[in-house]
Amino acid sequence: LTGGPLRGKRVLVTSGPTHEPIDPVRYIANRSSGAQGTAIASALAALGADVIFITGPADVPPPTGVTVVPVETAQQMLQAVQDALPVHVAVFAAAVADWRVASSSASKIKKQDGKLPVLEFAENPDILATISQMKTGRPDLVVGFAAETDDVIANATAKRARKQCDWIVANDVRPETGIMGGAENAVILIREDGVEEWPRLDKAEVAKRLAKRIADKVEEA
Ligand code: C5P
Repeated sequence: LTGGPLRGKRVLVTSGPTHEPIDPVRYIANRSSGAQGTAIASALAALGADVIFITGPADVPPPTGVTVVPVETAQQMLQAVQDALPVHVAVFAAAVADWRVASSSASKIKKQDGKLPVLEFAENPDILATISQMKTGRPDLVVGFAAETDDVIANATAKRARKQCDWIVANDVRPETGIMGGAENAVILIREDGVEEWPRLDKAEVAKRLAKRIADKVEEA
């Protein structure tokens, strides 16, 4: 029970969607269920890691045996990530909203006849890029995700370079794949030294494979 290749390693996992408020009762969100991030946190804990699980409002319950940090917005998620540092490994599986409502209202926006509300947006911080580009105290291994609908390998490889993370787990989220919100995933692991295409697997199995790769990498370091 106390063993496992990741024993004594601090590992951070972000998961789920973020909710960006419009006013106290309304928000903008996305369809992330949190299933893959939750499975990854669970698999890392099973290998003995001390997992800090930073999650937006997900459909699935968080795993047991991890430290759960619930957040709502992208800005809160970045703060929680920074508060969790230093870590050995960081896995960014959350579907972070790219934009927030620039000036969300402190009181509920009232319906006014004929006059429609107009929302203005502001860009959210890119958490993966922020942590990947840290000059001091950067995690030894930073893993990002790339949900793509076309040219999966090319786009994900470019994303890895742009954000400066170590690995990218890429997947094809075209609706006909049934991956978004489904039980299975078909991923391509992109590392500095090459590309690994995995068969279509249960999300739990994808999580176990990724946790194993992470443990191997941490052990060789
Ligand atoms: O740029 P894109 O959203 O496709 O990148 C996906 C990866 O970046 C995921 O690992 C996601 O968790 C991370 N991300 C982030 N903060 C953002 C946007 C994306 O950490 N604001």
